[in-house]
Amino acid sequence: MIDKDSLVKDIASDKRHLESVIERLGIKRQWHGSIEEACICNSSDPDFVIQILKTFDERGYFPRNELYEFPLEYILQYLRKTHDYYLNKRLPEIEQSVSFFKEHFTDNDFLHVILSKLFSVYKKNLSEHIQQEEEILFPYIDELLKGNVPDNMQSTSIEAITSEHEDVEDELIEIRSVIVKCLRNTDDILPFRIFLHQLNIFENDLCKHALVEGQVLLPRAIELEKIIKSNLKETKYGDGHRNGQVKKRSQTFNDYNNKFIKRDSETGKFIDVKSDKKPFKGIRKEKGK
Ligand SMILES: [Fe+2]
Ligand SMILES: [Fe+2]
Repeated sequence: MIDKDSLVKDIASDKRHLESVIERLGIKRQWHGSIEEACICNSSDPDFVIQILKTFDERGYFPRNELYEFPLEYILQYLRKTHDYYLNKRLPEIEQSVSFFKEHFTDNDFLHVILSKLFSVYKKNLSEHIQQEEEILFPYIDELLKGNVPDNMQSTSIEAITSEHEDVEDELIEIRSVIVKCLRNTDDILPFRIFLHQLNIFENDLCKHALVEGQVLLPRAIELEKIIKSNLKETKYGDGHRNGQVKKRSQTFNDYNNKFIKRDSETGKFIDVKSDKKPFKGIRKEKGK
């Protein structure tokens, strides 16, 4: 059971599947102290770190409600680090296995040719998916967190940004089925077994990543977006289009110049004359006028 007092180096050595998660959370896996001490050093929240570690450690465990309570900034930072890990560590590692197949099999071994083609398509799709999140979705949420929506983003929404955002997690299934065929058709099964193992780990990681994005980040960001956009609307109406009538002011029609005159109701003094023949907006008309 992982808790604040668990030693980082013990977790990293006993639970190898958590090594990369520990690093993504900004903790060195060689750290000799406890999780809580590491978090104090990093100014991070040990409760958040523990929930993420448990998500990857316990099969079928996803603490949606607990994660929902942490600041959105924590979630964004964790997801950004995960993207970086996928692009700069995980995908290149898997690619190395694919190039091993290229070197050890001829082009006549059609399954490995299919495998490397499938993987390069997969890598391209995943990279584009991540790029879209990093360049459009996450900066949009950053702005929401600052309490505004930039002019060039006001016509869009989280829903619009993510509507064409396809899931890339399922595409690994196709690659896996080719490997299983390779396993049946070759005597040299070890490299395929290693590759299959790498894919399983990656698939599991992507699945948790998609859960954090889909069940925590997006609903939280949509809630925030609603609040920011309704605040912006109120501010806008406050500037140009007033809601309700202005108190302590009235207007009357002046038959002499055929224009409306604004009056301060408290002092009874006229304070403004309308330049055209239309009445002032949002000002009460005096009876009979
Ligand atoms: Fe992502
Ligand atoms: Fe995603």
